[in-house]
Amino acid sequence: MANKGLAKAPEDTCILVTGGAGFIGSHTCVELLNNGYRVVIIDDLSNSSEVAVKRVRRITGVTDDRLRFYQNTLLDRAAVERVFDENDIDAIIHFAGFKAVGESVHKPLEYYWNNLTGTLVLCDVARNHGCKNLVFSSSATVYGEPERIPIDEDCEKHQATNPYGQTKTMLEQILTDLYVGDNEWDIVLLRYFNPIGAHESGLIGEDPKGIPNNLLPYVAQVAIGKLEKVHVFGDDYDTPDGTGVRDYIHVVDLARGHVSALNWMAGRVGTGKATTRGTIAGEPAADGTRRGVGIFNLGTGKGSSVLDVIRAFEKACGHEIPYVIEPRREGDVAACYAAVDKARDELGWTAQYDMERMCQDSWRWQTMNPDGYASATE
Ligand code: UFG
Repeated sequence: MANKGLAKAPEDTCILVTGGAGFIGSHTCVELLNNGYRVVIIDDLSNSSEVAVKRVRRITGVTDDRLRFYQNTLLDRAAVERVFDENDIDAIIHFAGFKAVGESVHKPLEYYWNNLTGTLVLCDVARNHGCKNLVFSSSATVYGEPERIPIDEDCEKHQATNPYGQTKTMLEQILTDLYVGDNEWDIVLLRYFNPIGAHESGLIGEDPKGIPNNLLPYVAQVAIGKLEKVHVFGDDYDTPDGTGVRDYIHVVDLARGHVSALNWMAGRVGTGKATTRGTIAGEPAADGTRRGVGIFNLGTGKGSSVLDVIRAFEKACGHEIPYVIEPRREGDVAACYAAVDKARDELGWTAQYDMERMCQDSWRWQTMNPDGYASATE
């Protein structure tokens, strides 16, 4: 079946957001709705809450069926079929997947099964409905130990150190092969650096289950007194202060990157010609929409150390944050930050918010929702 294409107004364009109740997914739904798109969420709520969907409605004022929610897993093929039967879906933004690095080492079967099978079911059902536009939530983890810094999209990919990372690498390959086998597809692989922060309303944010694995939610829980001190994993890296350096990006900036990717697919931004670095560019379709595989880093291009982050958060919360230096964490790289010129030149997108703002927004979310969504009903 031919690709329906995206050459129409956002108001007439329906986007399926898998994992749309999650951290990045919920923020992306807000930006899509703010830009006039219709949104259908499919989320199994295995690591998220329906409260996030209600909060997306509150933030955007969209109370009608411009936003629909289905509580289903992508592994349930009949349910995915139903979503496509009941909605005229034009493009997919695919976030749904398990994402805990450490857990994936202990549960490889669950991670491969869920993340790979879910995507295969999704793509199969989508193509049978003529929907062949997909934005995939990939990760800087595909670069592994990077060849050079800043990391550009041409940097060699390296073996991931855990099954979670492997699923990202494998799915990038699967989606690329999908295009190679059927040039009607248009695929965008967005490689995220480290998303943090929260919507400025304080209504949606990151809600990790149990003790957080990632730095920011951990720091936020120390700041609010739920955890005693931050464990800094290593101060002997070859970085300015010895602690690990990452490219932290505000989740709202990241969410806007997805709207830019849709504009790019629709031929509304970019040159329309073959692009550089990793992209496989096909001939644009008759209606001007793009075909191919686009690969973009989404980051700020700026590196911050663990101690930089702790200091910025201290400023946001107004008090000291205790920390202790620990040995390095296995699998961590010293420094990782993005070359951002490709996203800027092709997508017309750049991150707007700085570390100070990211910490302020995280802190607002944390103080307004000390237990995340757990005790909230709406
Ligand atoms: N860190 C600490 N203490 C903590 C947690 C983290 O010192 O309690 C340090 C880490 O060593 C690292 C930095 O803080 O230097 C950031 O660590 P995160 O766990 O927050 O993030 P990672 O960069 O390890 O991983 C993140 C995502 C992955 C994704 C990867 C892509 O969690 O999903 O970025 O680069 F694959």
